[in-house]
This record gives sequence, C-alpha cells and structure tokens, in this order.
Amino acid sequence: MSQTTAPFPAYLVSNTDGTVGAAFTTLAEAQLDAGDVTVRVQYASINFKDALAATGKGKIIRRFPCVGGIDATGVVESSASPRFKAGDGVIVHSHGFGVSHHGGYAARARVPADWVNALPAGMTALEAITIGVAGYTAALAIDLMELNGLAPARGKVLVNGATGGVASVSIDILAQRGYEVVAITGKPAEAAYLRELGAAEVIASADLPQGSKPLETALWQGAVDSLGGAPLSGLTRSVQKDGVIASIGNAAGLEFTTSVMPFILRGVRLIGVNSDNDPALRERIWKRLGTDLRPRHLGRIARVVPFKELPGAIDAVAGGKARGRTVIDLGSAA
Ligand SMILES: NC(=O)c1ccc[n+]([C@@H]2O[C@H](COP(=O)([O-])OP(=O)(O)OC[C@H]3O[C@@H](n4cnc5c(N)ncnc54)[C@H](OP(=O)(O)O)[C@@H]3O)[C@@H](O)[C@H]2O)c1
Repeated sequence: MSQTTAPFPAYLVSNTDGTVGAAFTTLAEAQLDAGDVTVRVQYASINFKDALAATGKGKIIRRFPCVGGIDATGVVESSASPRFKAGDGVIVHSHGFGVSHHGGYAARARVPADWVNALPAGMTALEAITIGVAGYTAALAIDLMELNGLAPARGKVLVNGATGGVASVSIDILAQRGYEVVAITGKPAEAAYLRELGAAEVIASADLPQGSKPLETALWQGAVDSLGGAPLSGLTRSVQKDGVIASIGNAAGLEFTTSVMPFILRGVRLIGVNSDNDPALRERIWKRLGTDLRPRHLGRIARVVPFKELPGAIDAVAGGKARGRTVIDLGSAA
C-alpha cells in the first residue's frame, strides 16, 4: 500500500458554468483517482492536447475537475501490480491520463498499471519525458510505416509541423535510420534546429507546391502528418506509388478532402496512428525507443520549464510559439 504523503501541488483543469480554466491547487493523496501504481512525478510535458485542454480551446477533458498532463515520468512509490515495484523509474501516458483521470501536472499520480512502462535501460526520466507521448507516437508511426513498405532506399520522407513535438522526434528517428527527411515548417527561421535533428531539407509550408488535381507530382515515399486538414489533402496527392502516410494529428484541421485516385492508381496507404495501446504493443515500442529507434538529439529537443511557469508555457504551446518538447520539471514540487 502507498504511504500517506503530505498534500502536494497540482494544476487542475475545471469547468465553472461552462467556462474551462486551469489553476494551481493542492491535493491530498486520497483525492487521486484509483490505480495500481503510485508515482512520484519528476517530469511532465506540454503536448498540443494539453494546451487545448488547459485553455479550453478543445473539448479534451472528459471529467472535471481533472489534473492536466497526458504524460509524466517519475519513480514508483508503491505498486499493487507485480510488473512494478517501489523505486522503479517509469513513464505514464495515454488512455485516460490527464483527460478523464488525474494526470501528470501534480507531484503524485496514481494510475492503472497498463498505462505505465518501465524506462528503457540507460534512459533518464528527463530523456524519457522528452520522448513522452509525442515521441512514442512518432516511433509507433515509423514502426507502422516500415511494416507498410517505408525503406530508406525508396525516397524522401516528409515531416510536417516540423518544429512540433511529434515531428521533432520523428525527424530525429527517421534520420538516424538513414532516411532523407524533408521538414515542412511554418517557422522557417528554425531551419538550423531542424537540420541539427537530421533534416536534409527544410521547406517553409508557404512554399510547398499547391495544387488540387487528383494526382500531383509524386515527391515523397512517405509522410508523418501532425496536421490533418489541407496539408493532409495535399499529401495524399503528392505521395509516390506504394507510399505511406501516417495520420497522427489535427493541428491544422479535422477534415480533409481528396479523391480515391491516390489510393487506386498509386496504391498510397493512409494509416491511422493512435497511442492508446495495449501493454504488449507499448512494451515493444518503448523497447525500440531504447534501442534501434532511440532519438539522438533529445537534449536539443527539450526545453525544461519549472512547474511554477506551467501556465505561461501552456500559452506558448497553444499559441504555436513553442519548439520541440516543452518539459515541466516537478522536481521541487513536493
Ligand atoms: N494520434 C495520437 O495518438 C497522437 C499522439 C500525440 C499527438 N497527437 C497529435 O499530433 C499533433 C501534434 O502534436 P504535438 O504534441 O507534436 O504538437 P505541437 O508540439 O504543438 O506541434 C504542432 C506543430 O504543428 C504546427 N502547427 C501548429 N498549429 C498549426 C496550424 N494551425 N496550422 C498548421 N500548422 C500548425 C507547428 O509546427 P511548425 O510551425 O513547424 O509548422 C507546431 O509546432 C496534434 O494534433 C496532437 O493532438 C496525436
């Protein structure tokens, strides 16, 4: 059983008469949701989804009030699951974490064991949260894309929303696997950062070829798409024969339009990527993140912010001003 701890700080998202907002508060351990594993949180992060949740810009939170933060790393304090024991370094992410169950923006988290993974061998809590749910999803996408034919010799791979969290880790992993990565960004001033991660080419999204024919010039063997909307529409028309697009996100929009032509004439594969996975798949992807898919530039990707500066950092992510992964240091929180 978990030992009783003193009240600890938390960042709680609430809904007051239909207005969603977030604020610091103090929680007692008894107020945490039920779960097998209690974790002393060291780091959390700000994902696009966290920014939508905390600002109320998106209908993300499914149970108010809810501690935000859809991923966290830390040390197990107590565990009723045989898979973990006190002292283990772990990462928690996905499923209801920070959405319908108190999340990572608190000094303690208690969660079902199926939402927890051991840190890969030799990986620190800071490195693991820099990967976080964003990097996990990037690795899952690349795993699925390679199962669908992606291979370094077959051509360029596009990564859009390139300065974002999912995209930054995607560029890093793809480059270390020998792919020629083309980064598409709305922040061309960050070209040097993207090249450091391994992008061979950086294109400003405003300079991307526009077109609306059912099939445009085939430029890429694959694409990691964080954006959805019009950028995904364009991708379907410009991927080469038997190419593969991983649809991960919706930063530019929920809907896209295309025709069946890319699919029936070029055999383009549009694959969906979702990070809510069963323990066996999570285990396999985290093992790969610690070995053959291990990112090489996590120190460049992370921006570490103290817990007390979380609100301002959330606004930066919500406003599209952040770069890479914004990591929240809860080390001094309690
Ligand atoms: N499927 C899953 O399980 C899963 C898991 C994790 C994340 N996601 C989704 O993946 C997407 C990316 O997440 P993230 O955490 O990497 O987000 P992020 O760090 O905020 O990055 C998103 C990037 O997209 C670009 N962008 C932002 N707003 C845009 C707009 N209105 N139009 C065009 N481009 C825009 C920006 O890159 P540039 O300025 O460089 O263009 C930004 O850095 C989100 O939609 C998120 O919800 C899904």
